[in-house]
Amino acid sequence: MKTAFSKIIYRGRQVYWALKSNIKPEEVIWAKNLLNPNEYAIFTQLSRADRRHSLDVAWLCANSTHLLSNEERTLLLKSALLHDMGKRHYPLQLWHRIVYVLLQNHPWWLKALKEKSSLGKALWVMAQHSNLGAEEAAQLNWSPDLVALIRHHHDRQVVLSEPLDKLIGILQSADEKS
Ligand SMILES: [Fe+2]
Ligand SMILES: [Fe+2]
Repeated sequence: MKTAFSKIIYRGRQVYWALKSNIKPEEVIWAKNLLNPNEYAIFTQLSRADRRHSLDVAWLCANSTHLLSNEERTLLLKSALLHDMGKRHYPLQLWHRIVYVLLQNHPWWLKALKEKSSLGKALWVMAQHSNLGAEEAAQLNWSPDLVALIRHHHDRQVVLSEPLDKLIGILQSADEKS
């Protein structure tokens, strides 16, 4: 199990690389071809770091699709590109993400801070981004399967019906590695 310190180093390095890395034109075309115009518009609203991270998750998922049908593959890659769409609800900085790692196991702190400061708002969005994204996706009438993958992408205990259970496992593993 990762300690809080190693989690901070890991998260910090992850975001630092995401900020430094460019997005290649061919990756933009790849994402555009996978998503419909409405979904792609949401993808473009992610911060550059989150777009880079989402593309990395999608590339990893793309390497695990050999046993999937075309529909399952498309659903998995869409969810990879959009799973963190809830983070658009606040301009999250690296330090917000680090403070969140420190406080995420202390929900009463997150709750107490929420009303009081912009930091509280940032931490609340970090804590709730799966639900925020899923609720927005549902309001946009996206498929219930895509909504479920966005909602549960951090929930390691969730049990979904197949093929979603298989897809959420691939998505969660790729997200943790990226
Ligand atoms: Fe996430
Ligand atoms: Fe993620």
